[in-house]
Amino acid sequence: MDITLDREYLKGFVEDKDYNQIVPEIERAHQQLETGTGKGSNFTGWMALPERTADNYLDDLIALGKEVREHSDCLVTIGIGGSYIGIRSSIEFLIGEQKIPVYYAGNNLSSGYLFHLLNTLEDQRVTVVVISKSGTTAEPALAFRIIKKFMEEKYKPAEVKKRIICITDSTRGALRAIAMKEGYRTFAIDEDVGGRFSVLTAVGMVPLAIAGLDIKGMIAGARDAQKHCSVMDLDKNIAYQYAAARYSLYQKGKVIEVLSTFYQRMDFVDDWWIQLFGESEGKDGKGIFPTSLSFTSDLHSMGQLIQEGPRNMFETFLIADLPGHELIIPEDEDDLDNFNCVAGKDLDFVNKQAYKATAMAHYDGGVPNMTVSIPKFDAPTLGQLYYFFEKAVAMTGYLLDVNPFNQPGVEAYKKNMFQLLGRK
Ligand code: PA5
Repeated sequence: MDITLDREYLKGFVEDKDYNQIVPEIERAHQQLETGTGKGSNFTGWMALPERTADNYLDDLIALGKEVREHSDCLVTIGIGGSYIGIRSSIEFLIGEQKIPVYYAGNNLSSGYLFHLLNTLEDQRVTVVVISKSGTTAEPALAFRIIKKFMEEKYKPAEVKKRIICITDSTRGALRAIAMKEGYRTFAIDEDVGGRFSVLTAVGMVPLAIAGLDIKGMIAGARDAQKHCSVMDLDKNIAYQYAAARYSLYQKGKVIEVLSTFYQRMDFVDDWWIQLFGESEGKDGKGIFPTSLSFTSDLHSMGQLIQEGPRNMFETFLIADLPGHELIIPEDEDDLDNFNCVAGKDLDFVNKQAYKATAMAHYDGGVPNMTVSIPKFDAPTLGQLYYFFEKAVAMTGYLLDVNPFNQPGVEAYKKNMFQLLGRK
C-alpha cells in the first residue's frame, strides 16, 4: 500500500488516549465486517471484490474495449450516483490516458445538457453504456429513452444492438427487461455490492475498459489495499486510523468534513467520496456532513470561512507526491511580480508550499486536519484509494452504529416525484 495518512495536525484534538478508547469498538466492528455479521452485511461483497475479480474477466473487458473503439469515436455512459461518479472520477484522475472521449448522461434531468449532448453526438460514431443496478432509476431511464431513440434514428437495428451495452442487476429491473427484449449485450452487477461501492465491478470496469484505461492496474492496486486494510492493527491499518480519527472528531462536535485537494484531476474523486460517505453515514440522525473544496481555487472563496468560521469542521487533504509532468516557472528579467524566488522551480513545488501553508494555517485557526498522500496518478494508486475510502467508511459507519450499506432516505423525493408525475 503506497497511500499514507499524516495525522500531525490532529494534535490537541485527537490524542493517543482517544485512539486507545476507540480500539475495542474498532475490534468489534472489524470482527463484524470480516465475518459478515454486522448491519447490512449482505452488501459487503465489495470487501473481497478485488481478490475475487478474475484476470481473464478483465482480459475479456479489455478485448471488448478494443473492439468498441474500432467502431466508435466516443462513448456515452448513462447512469447516476454510484452508476456514474466512479466512472467519471477515474477518467479525470487518469486524465490523458483515455483513448476515446467519454460523455455522461442520465446524471441529472437537465434538458439543456442532454439537448446539447445529442447535438455533439450527431456526427460521431457512438457507443452507449447504460448503467443502473436497480434498473428503475428515473434519471438514467429517461436519458436512455431519449438516447435509444436517437440511436435508432441514427443506425440500422443490427448496428444499434452492437452499440448499446447494458449493465444492471442479473435478474431484476426494467433495464434488464429492455436489454432482453432488444437483444443488447449485458453485464451483471454483483448482487452483494451496493451502488456507491461498485466502481470496481462491471459498473466501472466495462466503461473504463472501453475508454482504454488500465483496469488491470486498478484492480491490482485495490488488491494491495484489500490486504493492507484487513489487518486489525490500528498502528498499521490507515483505513482504520482515518475512521478512528473521524469518529473521535465527530464525537467532539466536528460534524463537517471538508475533503480538500490541490489537484484538479481529483475533483471528481472528491465527488465520489462525498456520495460514498454521505450516503453511507447520514442516517438515524447521525453522520458527518461531507463536503469538498478544490484548492487553491477555493481558498479564494471558502478559505475565509474555514479559517475563521464556526469551529465545527475538520479537513482532510488529498495530496499527490508526483504530479506526473513538469512545468518549470521561467525567470523574468524585470521580476515585476516578485516571483523570481521560484524561477526554475516546478509549478507543483509552489502548489505543495500552498498546501503546507494551508494545513498549518487552518490548524492554527482551530481546524484539525489530516492528509492522505498518494504517490502518483496511476491506475494502481486509484484502485488503492477507492478501496481505502470504502473500508474507512464501512468502519466509521459501524462505529456510528448505522447501516453503512443502505440508503432508505433516497426514496423520499422519488415517492413525491412519481406522485407528481402520475407514475404508477
Ligand atoms: O449508492 C447507491 O446505491 C445509489 O446512489 C445508486 O448508485 C444510485 O441511486 C443509482 O442507482 P441505480 O444504479 O440503481 O440506477
